[in-house]
Amino acid sequence: MKYAVLFLIIILSGCGIHEKTAGLFLYNQEDPYVDIFAGQIIKHSQGLFSVESIDCQNSQIIQNEYIEKQIKKKKNNLMIINPVDRLGAYSVVKKLKSVNIPVVFFNREPLAEDLDLWEKAYYVGAKAEQSGKLQADMIMELFGGDPENLNKYDRNSNGFIETVILKGEQGHQDAEIRTAEVVKTFTENKFRLDILVTEVANWKRDEAYEKMKQIIDTFGNSIELVISNNDAMALGAISIMRQSGMFRDSNGNGKIDRDDNQWIPVVGIDGLDEAVAMIEEGYLYGSVLNDSDSQAWAIAELADFILNNKNISDMTFPVT
Ligand code: GAL
Repeated sequence: MKYAVLFLIIILSGCGIHEKTAGLFLYNQEDPYVDIFAGQIIKHSQGLFSVESIDCQNSQIIQNEYIEKQIKKKKNNLMIINPVDRLGAYSVVKKLKSVNIPVVFFNREPLAEDLDLWEKAYYVGAKAEQSGKLQADMIMELFGGDPENLNKYDRNSNGFIETVILKGEQGHQDAEIRTAEVVKTFTENKFRLDILVTEVANWKRDEAYEKMKQIIDTFGNSIELVISNNDAMALGAISIMRQSGMFRDSNGNGKIDRDDNQWIPVVGIDGLDEAVAMIEEGYLYGSVLNDSDSQAWAIAELADFILNNKNISDMTFPVT
């Protein structure tokens, strides 16, 4: 009996060797949103295929080298790629097509013509338009909902909202579309924004801290709103705003008061845990959830369908 059990275990572990595997290439694991996203992809892949995750440290050269290495080792049956340079997808698709390794890009959207190079190249992502629009909705509501009659948050009562925009990486679809869409939504609803400055801080907290420091020096009390393309930059801005005494707990209830005439709304996107805590404490006015868990689920499901030659149109998520 003992031997029978042992035999079974050996056979099962033998099967494991032939399990399908996917390479997961992250553009930069220091990015908190991408780091959480990676964990969710691994979680949703459990029981379907195994994942080997690689941090490409914000270098397209490193990413290309890793992809080459994995192709040579004939290691992965599929690649899940968060490109460092989304415009560099052309050569990656060509390369993977030549060795017949399917690819699922995510989070940083390749050009449509690059995806069109091969029917086994896919992209999974959120709609950037939606996040920008939702950000604008939440701000319009805060300012009273009536563009002709802004409430007390129009600190200088001039009918305009004096705004600072913190932008993610130039050319990144989320940075470009979120920024354009948030501004467009205000205009469509006849809200008047006075954009004091738009600063690129590359999704990064530290960069946003430094940029916001200069912005406070230049514009100080005239700032009425900070719109950030993501939470990490919003948190960086909040750090320097706190140090500059822009947030107060006037009534001593342990939370920052919106009624305080110094208070300036800051809004982000992603819904990081730390951002949610900052909303609860009153520093961050709001964030838009950039639902990485559902996207991770879609990526794992898509990868499983490709790996097992299942019909993609039967997936839970719509594929266009
Ligand atoms: C965005 C996200 C940012 C940043 C970026 C990286 O979708 O909102 O925080 O992670 O992706 O590509």
